[in-house]
Amino acid sequence: MKHGPLMFLGVLAAVLASWLVAVLAPHFQIGHEEPILIEELGINYPVDRPGEAKQGAEVYRAQGCQYCHTRQVRQEPLFADLTVTDLGTNAVETRRVVASLRRDLAGVDGRRLPEELPRPLLKHVSYAAAEAALRRLTNAGAQVELTLANLGPDIARGWGARRTVARDYLRDHPVMLGQVRFGPDLANLGARQTNEMRLYLKLYNARLELPGSTMPRYPYLFEERRLRPGQEPSPDALRGFGFEPPPGIEIVPRPEARQLVAYLLSLKADTLFYETYVPRPASAGAAAVTNGPAAAPPAPTPPPAQP
Ligand code: HEC
Repeated sequence: MKHGPLMFLGVLAAVLASWLVAVLAPHFQIGHEEPILIEELGINYPVDRPGEAKQGAEVYRAQGCQYCHTRQVRQEPLFADLTVTDLGTNAVETRRVVASLRRDLAGVDGRRLPEELPRPLLKHVSYAAAEAALRRLTNAGAQVELTLANLGPDIARGWGARRTVARDYLRDHPVMLGQVRFGPDLANLGARQTNEMRLYLKLYNARLELPGSTMPRYPYLFEERRLRPGQEPSPDALRGFGFEPPPGIEIVPRPEARQLVAYLLSLKADTLFYETYVPRPASAGAAAVTNGPAAAPPAPTPPPAQP
């Protein structure tokens, strides 16, 4: 080997460069995040999970739920829609601004514009562009409505109200992001599914709810007990949602199932703070901020591409 030392240096440089990019840089960016005080709610987000839910995280890990379920919601960069609701008193000036924002409207007869109000002016443009247009229009005296459009396939599927960010996972050790989505994302399960019994039944036999489901059954997280004649089943015995246990038998969750369900119910990533600011959806996937640069958030940075 003629160039041994040179090759060694080359390999060292390659390893060092990837360590800098993959370990050190993220450490400086998000390595020191702390729970954040959300004054309106009086909580430190993320809230620590109750003890039972913490144990449930271990059950989740032991059962390998993370091999089929991710816990990360992705979102497209924040887009906004702008609607003119009233031209205001200086209609001439407003029309001029409208025409400069939408060249295709320049040909429209200016006198017809007021009758077509409220009219959507900009759709799914960047937040900064919508805010700039809003400022120009309000300066001209018009009434404008800025609507944040929260988009992306994950949001459309109802898996979350917003993307997940590093801070959501501060209380998780280890963080179980998951990689493969054989099943739905669970980052926000506790917000969309609050019925304990349904979750128990899903774990006991996913096909009860969805014939053909490929989710495995976890019957060993439950205990089958024989009922004495005339004995009432326990209050937490599985039943409902079309499920009836065989006569004379009750099926009750074992502690592991209880812990797992407590954990599933604690999965919520919908609290808003500045990294994630998206006003609460008023209708599906959108919320209105009327004439409000003051009430609007600082223009958020586009989310990093997540794996
Ligand atoms: C082999 C892959 C696989 C594994 C492992 C798996 N699941 Fe699932 N899971 C699915 C699929 C597929 C669905 C969607 C079909 C359905 O609802 O039955 C699903 C659905 C769910 C749902 C309903 C989600 C919703 O949006 O309503 C929950 C809750 C759930 N799984 C929890 C778990 C838990 C907890 C574990 C670990 C004990 C687990 N899953 C393990 C594949 C899996």
